[in-house]
Amino acid sequence: MNRLSLIAFALATSTVSVPAAAVDAAAADALVRKSKCLTCHAVEKKKDGPSFKETAAKYKGKPEAEEKLTKHVTVPSKVKVEGNEEDHEVLKTDDPAAVKNVVQWILSL
Ligand code: HEC
Repeated sequence: MNRLSLIAFALATSTVSVPAAAVDAAAADALVRKSKCLTCHAVEKKKDGPSFKETAAKYKGKPEAEEKLTKHVTVPSKVKVEGNEEDHEVLKTDDPAAVKNVVQWILSL
């Protein structure tokens, strides 16, 4: 690989995940706290639901990721927790930009 293609390679691989600057992690964290997501989820550890890192890994490179996760965190659904059906919470906000920020934050982990 010559010098130029090395640079091109570095640029290409660094843009695979969402650029960190585009995501407001503090705002995302505050909203998932407020929405009680963290009773069942954590960034690193599996609780009743998958860790957000696990979800990021599951959707890595999948073009439908953002759409699927947006639906998952805005449309109420049922999930199984230890064999019982429970309601899956949605984000407590009406602001689509805040939802997008959380989805992109999860995918960037
Ligand atoms: C009652 C516990 C509970 C709460 C509260 C909860 N979740 Fe979940 N969540 C789960 C479980 C269980 C799954 C796994 C569902 C499955 O794989 O079918 C899940 C899955 C997910 C996934 C992965 C979806 C996928 O397609 O892989 C995301 C992202 C997620 N939750 C985000 C959130 C957010 C954001 C909130 C807060 C608005 C939240 N969850 C609140 C239990 C919960």
